[in-house]
Amino acid sequence: MSFAYAAARPVLRDVDLIVRPGEFVMLVGASGGGKTTLLKLARGFISPTRGSILVLGRNPAPRRSAWGVRRLDPRVAYIPQQLGLVRSMTAIENVLAGALGRIQGLGAIFRSVSEQDRREALALLDDLRIAHKAEEKVALLSGGERQRVAIARALMQRPQLILADEFISQLDPATGADILASMQRAARSGTALLASTHNIEIVARYADRVVLLSRGVKTLDCAANQAPVDQLTDAMRE
Ligand SMILES: Nc1ncnc2c1ncn2[C@@H]1O[C@H](COP(=O)(O)OP(=O)(O)O)[C@@H](O)[C@H]1O
Ligand SMILES: [Mg+2]
Repeated sequence: MSFAYAAARPVLRDVDLIVRPGEFVMLVGASGGGKTTLLKLARGFISPTRGSILVLGRNPAPRRSAWGVRRLDPRVAYIPQQLGLVRSMTAIENVLAGALGRIQGLGAIFRSVSEQDRREALALLDDLRIAHKAEEKVALLSGGERQRVAIARALMQRPQLILADEFISQLDPATGADILASMQRAARSGTALLASTHNIEIVARYADRVVLLSRGVKTLDCAANQAPVDQLTDAMRE
């Protein structure tokens, strides 16, 4: 699969990548290497210029419903670098939006939030040690607290695949461990994770596999615990 924003300048060149159920794959590489572009392709925001992508067995490009609404695959949760939370809504309202993401089409509009949904959302916030801020507006939360809300919302969607852009790089070491642990639990229960990061230390500790993108070319794809740390460190400095 290849991709170019402008015809003469390919951003990804013949990249092939398979992520299996329950696998935690970290995408690494210097800035500009194509990590964000690859995640956007997997989410269906853009489409390959050459070749194809299958996500959970189908083309990830949005489908148009009978009502003309463009729908992305509800089995996939995407956490953009800026997290994509609604700042004027509370933490728990943002997490509950993840439950609505599960349902296709009009069901989501007419469905109200059940007491069970609220309990599930609170339990996720509790796992991420942010339940005490459930009723707080996201605008008033710190960066680290927002990250917890963003991952809780993704998990609330009960996705089969989570795509997360740079989100792990921004975690501070003291508080990041429990977020990563909760992502690992998701992976153990069968959810696949594809996450980009700058943080090489995290790769060895948490990922199953590491994929290195250097200027749009996949230059490494191996088990995380066998990754050549020197090569990774050099590649990040490019
Ligand atoms: N919307 C865009 N239009 C044109 N070029 C872009 C756009 N987004 C990214 N690029 C270019 O694509 C390349 C890869 O960018 P990106 O996928 O953001 O890399 P990374 O996430 O690894 O830093 C860079 O050269 C960047 O300048
Ligand atoms: Mg990026």
